[in-house]
Amino acid sequence: MDHSDYYPDTGTAGLNVLVASSEAHPLVKTGGLGDVAASLPMALRDLGHDARLILPGYPHAKKLVRELKPVMDLRMAGVVGNVQLYSGLLPDRDLPVYLVDAPAYFCREGNPYTDVSGRDWGDNPERFLLFCRVIAHVAMGLPSLNWRPQVLHCNDWQTGLAPALLRDQDDRPALVFTIHNLAYQGLFDRNTFDRLALPGSLWSVTGLEFHQRMSFIKGGLVFSDQVNTVSPRYADEVRTPRFGCGLDGLLRQLGGRFRGILNGIDYRIWNPADDPALPQAYDTEHVHLKGENKLALQTLFGLPRDENAFVLGHVGRLVEQKGVDLIIAVLPQLVAAGRVQLVMQGAGDRALEHALQEAAAAHPEHVSVFVGYDETRAHLIEAGCDAFLMPSRFEPCGLNQMYSLRYGTVPIVHNTGGLADTVVDASDAALAAGTATGFLFNDPNPDGLWYAVEQALRMRNEQPERWRSLILAGMHADLSWQASARHYVDFYAEAMAAREMLAHAATA
Ligand code: ADP
Ligand code: GLC
Repeated sequence: MDHSDYYPDTGTAGLNVLVASSEAHPLVKTGGLGDVAASLPMALRDLGHDARLILPGYPHAKKLVRELKPVMDLRMAGVVGNVQLYSGLLPDRDLPVYLVDAPAYFCREGNPYTDVSGRDWGDNPERFLLFCRVIAHVAMGLPSLNWRPQVLHCNDWQTGLAPALLRDQDDRPALVFTIHNLAYQGLFDRNTFDRLALPGSLWSVTGLEFHQRMSFIKGGLVFSDQVNTVSPRYADEVRTPRFGCGLDGLLRQLGGRFRGILNGIDYRIWNPADDPALPQAYDTEHVHLKGENKLALQTLFGLPRDENAFVLGHVGRLVEQKGVDLIIAVLPQLVAAGRVQLVMQGAGDRALEHALQEAAAAHPEHVSVFVGYDETRAHLIEAGCDAFLMPSRFEPCGLNQMYSLRYGTVPIVHNTGGLADTVVDASDAALAAGTATGFLFNDPNPDGLWYAVEQALRMRNEQPERWRSLILAGMHADLSWQASARHYVDFYAEAMAAREMLAHAATA
């Protein structure tokens, strides 16, 4: 069966899709949203659709975009300084991108959301309202662009007001909203709502109001034609009070308008056979060469060079979600286990950064930590480790476990969200069927994690053939964007049909 049998022709050849995001690799990235926002539109273009990206004009983005040129001045009431729309191409691929250049809002040190000390920018509501206002303009087809999207695809709370602003526009595009992480909602007080001078009608439980606060994400959930999140399991989880962050009721109400579509990964960037970050390339035929990368990783991280050591790794934002405290809690067992090493890279919560640095200082032969953000190192960690730890308490999708699979690094993950949808546990049945790719544990606590690590260590040491079959099954798994991008095309078609029905109902 080929893909065309599985995905019926939905009559959606050559769709125009505007993807709106607050980050996109390599222009600006703090996490997986950045990867997805660049690779999904590219995958859509590969399928013959005209997908384009819109992003705030951060200084770094302006520097990196190719063929950058001003498109038009946008005169907007109540905005400080000039707002200009620029167009160009991503530096590493032919993906058109629009940048919203508003220096008073987006030209500053720090990251898209926080200042250098990690504090949220106080004017984030103004910054992302402005972004949403420009998204809404572009979505309606600015004359000087000579291009008009049939679908506006918004991502996460920073873009949530765009569907709210467009809701009553005749002739608006179909609106799709993706939740990458429900824990980040863009919540602000009533004074902020008043200060933003949004239509008063939006202050309602059927609008932006959420327990007497204003919620950006609700704009996306309430006013879009279709809503999704980034894995089927997380889509089920967020419809329960445990994972729903107070929005589970609303998500349940969306019924068939809400579902999970699994992310893919970008094989152009994450490919161990052709990755400039690796001293040694390898593929499924030459997995033994992976060991060279382990030695390079140990050298880089100042750990004893030992090809037989069992090296565990982790890369990620240091936040409660990721369960890094569980990794810290199992350190005593890990260190006692003998030739085990741990390589950690991340930045975020200052207390977790310190705890990790202290652990590295206490166990220099076993633990090494890099506090900071570094893409090249992240690639080498994926290639050089034996196993990758993701004890996330919840994980909408997670990309690192998929990068690990692709790099023949066995993921050890909590049985939740996208982790559960992408890693096949090494049960006897899955091992016998040759489908097992990693280790899943059910209880997000130190015992649960340690049990899984021990299982992995034992298999690596005592059953090398089984271990090798795990590695190869992971490397062979199809994690590409191709299938997921087709799901999005179907999803866009449903959004367009829903939008049409609404328009008919309004004129009837
Ligand atoms: P999330 O989006 O919740 O942060 P994902 O697993 O989806 O989690 O994506 C994280 C992305 O960010 C991956 O590409 C990962 O490599 C990258 N990343 C996170 N922290 C760092 C870091 N300190 N250095 C390099 N890359 C990082
Ligand atoms: C979010 C989630 C992560 C997901 C990423 C991309 O940041 O935390 O699980 O992979 O978005 O969708």
